[in-house]
Amino acid sequence: MTTTRKTPLATDETGANGQVEGAQPSNSQLETAPETIHHLLDVDALSRAQIETLLDSSEGMLEVLGRDLKKTPALRGKTIITLFFENSTRTRISFEEAGKILGADVINVSVSASSVSKGESLYNTSLTLQAMQVDALVVRHPHSGAPHFVARHVKAPVVNAGDGLHAHPTQALLDLFTLKQRIGALDGKKIAVIGDVLYSRVARSDILGLAKLGADVHVSGPPTLMPSGWQPGAAPVEPGMESVTIAKRIEEALDGADAVMTLRIQRERQDAGHLPDLREYSNLYGINKARLALAKPGAPLMHPGPMNEGVEISSEVAHGDQSVVEEQVRNGVAVRMAVLYAVCAAGKEQE
Ligand code: NCD
Repeated sequence: MTTTRKTPLATDETGANGQVEGAQPSNSQLETAPETIHHLLDVDALSRAQIETLLDSSEGMLEVLGRDLKKTPALRGKTIITLFFENSTRTRISFEEAGKILGADVINVSVSASSVSKGESLYNTSLTLQAMQVDALVVRHPHSGAPHFVARHVKAPVVNAGDGLHAHPTQALLDLFTLKQRIGALDGKKIAVIGDVLYSRVARSDILGLAKLGADVHVSGPPTLMPSGWQPGAAPVEPGMESVTIAKRIEEALDGADAVMTLRIQRERQDAGHLPDLREYSNLYGINKARLALAKPGAPLMHPGPMNEGVEISSEVAHGDQSVVEEQVRNGVAVRMAVLYAVCAAGKEQE
């Protein structure tokens, strides 16, 4: 994936052959963003410069999304397959819309993970897709590391659309993008991340991305829903998270925060005993008007969706003035356009 500082995608900036003028980095752009990444598997593999370049590029994509005539031929002739082994509505549609706006052919494949043995299915599927000469593969899987496995067996770029408890890099990028749009540069900004960190791939990718952009991240959630070794008052014992604080009390995390991210309770992933009572959880960690008032006035409230209203977030704040949940969804399309464009353009350079 070669990312350039700006990726102008105006319909009138594309030539008859669908090439995007300006897609090739100029010398000065190469000086600032020389890194090339083939797959997008996790945030920890991205440098700060690469993240910033993708966010810059997403701005241009958002502008395209706002037009009456949204379609651009930037990826015309490219075939993108979304391969989902886990249910999804917004993420799959978001990738599909992103690919189609860029003019690619998008084929959606949904597979029931339970009906096949994981390794064999993935291996065979990877070989089949390899033989089909796809230009990019978007993979979601209930097992951590599955997209990495696919990436080892196909030449095409692989974009991780969420793997088990591990990573959800495009969600992190869209959250970073939404935050930057709302509160500007993230250096030194206090961001509260509240809830089920243990089972949330969004939390892990978001925290890593926020830390890379210099944010002051404060995490809070029930001790049973924190990864092992995450001690209140300390930083998580995980590379890239040294600057993160695990709050002793939720109020400390929320106090004066520039933005609040609440996480979905991942009931489908939890082992028994981790969450005895949803009402108790809501009382102690649910984001409601009173808790949101601890953050800075007007601080954006985020949720990756789908929301369990009345559990991790009250309906009042979920649909209140500070909620940016719908913006996150819209920005998700722009960010995925930027990602698909970047990885497909890198693939082209390798041809
Ligand atoms: C997230 C996911 O699937 O990890 N949702 C999403 O991408 N729309 C968050 C979640 O399910 O909690």
